Amino acid sequence: MKRLLLLLCVLCAPLHAEEVTLKHGGLTLLADFVEADDALPSVALITHGTLAHKDMELVETLQEALAERGVASLAHTLSLGVDARRGMADCAAPQIHRDEDADREIALWIDWLKKHAHERPTLIGHSRGAKEVARTAAKREDLHGVVLMAPATAGSERRAREGYEARYGTSLDAVLAEAHKLSPDVVMDVPGILYCADTTASAGSVLSYYDGEPTGAETYAPDIDAPVLVVLARADAVVPDAPAAFMPLRNDALNIALVDDADHMFLDFYAEDAADLIAEFMAHEPKAASPTIDFENADLEYGAYLGQECASCHSANGSNPPLDGLEAGYLHHALGQYANGERDNAAMALVARSLDDEQRIAIAAHFAAQLK
Ligand code: HEC
Repeated sequence: MKRLLLLLCVLCAPLHAEEVTLKHGGLTLLADFVEADDALPSVALITHGTLAHKDMELVETLQEALAERGVASLAHTLSLGVDARRGMADCAAPQIHRDEDADREIALWIDWLKKHAHERPTLIGHSRGAKEVARTAAKREDLHGVVLMAPATAGSERRAREGYEARYGTSLDAVLAEAHKLSPDVVMDVPGILYCADTTASAGSVLSYYDGEPTGAETYAPDIDAPVLVVLARADAVVPDAPAAFMPLRNDALNIALVDDADHMFLDFYAEDAADLIAEFMAHEPKAASPTIDFENADLEYGAYLGQECASCHSANGSNPPLDGLEAGYLHHALGQYANGERDNAAMALVARSLDDEQRIAIAAHFAAQLK
């Protein structure tokens, strides 16, 4: 009996998933970190599709299969404006999230990974998550690679709009016209939004998903700096146009792989096939690391002098994140992100833009040396 149990446990491949959290705008964001033995240098950051979550079958299977192939991963749940959201989105509640909110949360998790010594992550997105990942990746230069699984296309978005009236009984134009009249945060009755029928949504949410030119992952893919792997499911009924959208983009830096017989959700072990492709793709040589910054020889006195300016907002008991003891590379990088708009905060943008690189290095070295 003992033996049998032991055997079973070997088969059930213990998933070393650790739930981790992040605070953002008053909300708690959730993610699962799964370690791998002899892990590759790059860690995967996984973003799910429309209204889904980190514990959905595809994401869990993928994390496990990647771990078996030496890839550690972090799978996060997009908050959709809900604190510590779990499971599928609650369609009965007002839908107040916007399409572009995802980009901010993906960026926060990239920062989290960096803070935990995982430089140059590989972003993986599924379906709508692939479009969000592609849009995020097109703005960054610090990624090892990008994997787009069964990516949402402009065509799929166009079909959703064209099918809106048949599905929800009201013309989309009428809904958009009403949304345009309201201020973005006002919640209105809607016949449907995304997969949710007969619910309420903020005007800004409605417009973010249905107004303007339809876009898909292929809209942003050409601007991605890192190598891209597009994993398509051959029996995908949700984005049957994905091969047509991506084939013309194929080149040295954008590879396309088709998984035979797989459907949109890669059910029935097809996630394993996808994991094979992804692990192989992620084993490519990392790009030359960004030049290491010499914090050792930074001018600490100069840093302390410049750092006085930060105290008014970042004092130990203030509401903003404390800076004492922050890792120098992280702080330096964060200032760069505020300066170039990758992190969006007006006060910090002003502060960061007023400092040149030498000053940022001195400040970073100064704060890193506190609390030591
Ligand atoms: C006017 C107020 C203000 C001043 C002055 C200010 N900060 Fe900030 N800082 C903020 C706010 C607000 C945030 C949070 C912004 C966000 O949510 O991204 C922040 C965030 C940061 C972060 C990100 C922390 C993290 O954990 O990711 C760093 C790093 C930082 N500030 C460094 C500095 C440094 C260095 C200075 C001085 C040179 C400074 N700040 C001065 C308001 C300020």
